Amino acid sequence: MILSKWVFPVFIIFILFKLQISIGVSKDFLKIAKQDEVLDWMVGIRRKIHENPELGYEEFETSRIIRDELDKLGIVYKYPVAVTGVVGFVGSGEPPFVAVRADMDALPVQEMVEWEHKSKVPGKMHACGHDAHVTMLLGAAKILKDHDHLLKGTVVLVFQPAEEGGGGAIRVVDSGVLKNVKAIFGLHVSPGSPLGQVSSRSGILLAASGFFEAVITGKGGHAAIPQHSIDPILAASNVIVSLQHLVSREVDPLDSQVVTVAKFQGGGAFNVIPDSVTIGGTFRAFSKESFMQLKQRIEEVIIGQATVQRCNATVEFSSKEKPFYPATINDNSLHKYFQNVAGDILGPSNVKDMLPLMGSEDFSVYQEAIPGYFYFLGMKTESNKNPASAHSPFFEINEDILPFGAAMHASLVANYLIEIQDSETRLNEEHHDEL
Ligand SMILES: *[C@@H]1O[C@H](CO)[C@@H](O)[C@H](O)[C@H]1NC(C)=O
Repeated sequence: MILSKWVFPVFIIFILFKLQISIGVSKDFLKIAKQDEVLDWMVGIRRKIHENPELGYEEFETSRIIRDELDKLGIVYKYPVAVTGVVGFVGSGEPPFVAVRADMDALPVQEMVEWEHKSKVPGKMHACGHDAHVTMLLGAAKILKDHDHLLKGTVVLVFQPAEEGGGGAIRVVDSGVLKNVKAIFGLHVSPGSPLGQVSSRSGILLAASGFFEAVITGKGGHAAIPQHSIDPILAASNVIVSLQHLVSREVDPLDSQVVTVAKFQGGGAFNVIPDSVTIGGTFRAFSKESFMQLKQRIEEVIIGQATVQRCNATVEFSSKEKPFYPATINDNSLHKYFQNVAGDILGPSNVKDMLPLMGSEDFSVYQEAIPGYFYFLGMKTESNKNPASAHSPFFEINEDILPFGAAMHASLVANYLIEIQDSETRLNEEHHDEL
């Protein structure tokens, strides 16, 4: 009797106290990240990386900038991981471990934006915002380091090379640094959604993706005497048309898939039929079965259709340089957790659900190994009605996004450590009760 009188109020106070910790920490993080001193520091890093874009597995300078900043913050790290990658550790150094990831590589795109910190490397550009991704993770590292007494475990900071086709995530996982990590979070900047708004979904978010390349061989000759040649240009044209029948005629309309031929190379003169033509492209699907079925049919159609025109064809799929990426599938229980934390920091009206996209991400590789959650963070302002999309030479980062990303990263992992310690304590208590 005596017990029941005060157990309930104490329990309520305990819960309020816990909530206070998590919400209090989150709100602080955004305020801290927006302070001039922190924002200016992040903007400086982002511009430095933007001026010196490096392609996949060549991010040596980017990697050095990351390590310099971690050194200054007093954060220990492992290097090299996956060639140029850096993996930092903040917190107790003890389990539980939770990870957060940023990708480091740029694209082979010539920047067309004229501004003071334009890419200094001809033909290379951070046109997908990875310069901002790296900066936001460094921002989170700083915030977490300043609060490491609050961390109930260890945050693993993954700076990953080669997201744009190189499969850097595969090498990070293979390196074993994520062993014992309970969950991983990652984000991508979104030029089309409002600044400070996050969007994602439970389950499938992004498609699985693969590349193919085919050489269609005929017999070259004079363009005016076609009967003495075997024309690979016409054969390749028919191959491409036939490939477009795969999704439209062989696939359930409710099971979204894409086949795009994006490369067509052959010939060089007006009056010469060339010996061969090379075509290449990408294919996307959400399920493994659909993906493998599509891959098989792409090969059959290319070879079969080339044969109809008396040509031979060879087809190659992903190689070590361009591995297949699985679909990005968000863990269901992390979805609820994400919505709660994001709602605390940004306000519930800035947390949106979205439809899946046919784009792809090698973050999916982590999600095949451990529960993971990936989301988009908006950066559109009222003044810019039509921002360029990612991979465009006109792509621009709204640097006001940096504090939001830093705070989101830091809050997701810091609160996650509190959350799983609580759930483990609960489990232990329940277990104890049973005994
Ligand atoms: C196709 O391959 C067959 C068998 O190797 C060969 O006999 C034929 O000449 C090839 N045709 C072309 C157009 O290359």
